[in-house]
Amino acid sequence: MKAVSLDLSSKEDRSRLCEVDLPVPPLRSGEVRVRTKAVSFNPIDVQIRRSRLEDKPLWSPILGRDLAGVVEAVAADVTAFRPGDEVFSNVCNRSSSGTYAELVNIPHELAAKKPSSLNWQEAAALPVAGTTAMLALDRAAASASTSLFIARGAGGVGSFAIVLAQRMGLRRLIVTARREDSRRHLIDALRVPPDQILDSNYSAFFDMAVARNEGLFDVTLDLVGGRMLSTCCRLVAVDGRVVSATEFPSVDDGEFLFERNASFCAIGAHAHSLSEDRRAWATYRARLDELARCFDGGELPPPRVTVVGPFSVHTVERAHALLEQGAVQGKLTMVF
Ligand SMILES: NC(=O)c1ccc[n+]([C@@H]2O[C@H](COP(=O)([O-])OP(=O)(O)OC[C@H]3O[C@@H](n4cnc5c(N)ncnc54)[C@H](OP(=O)(O)O)[C@@H]3O)[C@@H](O)[C@H]2O)c1
Repeated sequence: MKAVSLDLSSKEDRSRLCEVDLPVPPLRSGEVRVRTKAVSFNPIDVQIRRSRLEDKPLWSPILGRDLAGVVEAVAADVTAFRPGDEVFSNVCNRSSSGTYAELVNIPHELAAKKPSSLNWQEAAALPVAGTTAMLALDRAAASASTSLFIARGAGGVGSFAIVLAQRMGLRRLIVTARREDSRRHLIDALRVPPDQILDSNYSAFFDMAVARNEGLFDVTLDLVGGRMLSTCCRLVAVDGRVVSATEFPSVDDGEFLFERNASFCAIGAHAHSLSEDRRAWATYRARLDELARCFDGGELPPPRVTVVGPFSVHTVERAHALLEQGAVQGKLTMVF
């Protein structure tokens, strides 16, 4: 099978990618073998590729977390799927490799039936970003009456968080977007009213966010880190929640949380897969099933995806470059 891998033989450029031809990995107990139809790209792919430069251990030289594809074989003890089933998955780091590969063996608990209303690339866009957004809103205990601030609204996670918030009837929403493309994506694809979008580079941005919300926020969702996480800690109201998918607040930021009696929730989408108890892994299928129901039931609009190209080293390189430039609206995908 063909895969796009980090070039482990390269001493000069340790982040170089290459195409490899590998034997099909043997199926282990509890696994399904999936023939990949589409994958999507996430910042974590770039972060792992960069971490190789720092000599951090790799779980696989084949990167990629999201996949949609067709089950080709199942281990003897798997009853949840059979060959021919169309599935999608966040493969975490429990599978035979990352998803930039023609075939991936996945623990069956990490896969779910693909939403029938979505095409391959739309389905591949969901697992990491969609479930992270879902997790963030759950941990925020968000409801229709919540006032919500989202830092980095136009990316994969932000876009899903916006449509999930809209689905629950949440109206008091302010999101950030710096580029015109990001602003247009929020207005045209996600129907966010223009007065709910703020450019975080603008010096009066903090005061404008408070003014437009008519006060501090019940929940702030940080998808940027650094200074934006500090801002999220300052934008939160008394008894509110700061939810972050990026990092932990500094001691100074923590002082604001004490002053506001606010809680901090760290989002770790891979947390359950780190357990040695396989029963914990079933949370992935449960969340994917819930997402699939929302899309197939028409409660959520199909996600905006950009197909970067067909399966190749060149496509992966282009997608990683776009992610590094911060120039992605919605999700980037690659088709097989
Ligand atoms: N903890 C977890 O489990 C978990 C899971 C998934 C993702 N994450 C993290 O969540 C963050 C968002 O992920 P994502 O997939 O939504 O990202 P993404 O799709 O790459 O986000 C792209 C958007 O982010 C904005 N952006 C890019 N670089 C930025 C920067 N340095 N500062 C501020 N805005 C920036 C750009 O819009 P503008 O025009 O507004 O700049 C762009 O449209 C990443 O840090 C990712 O690693 C964590």
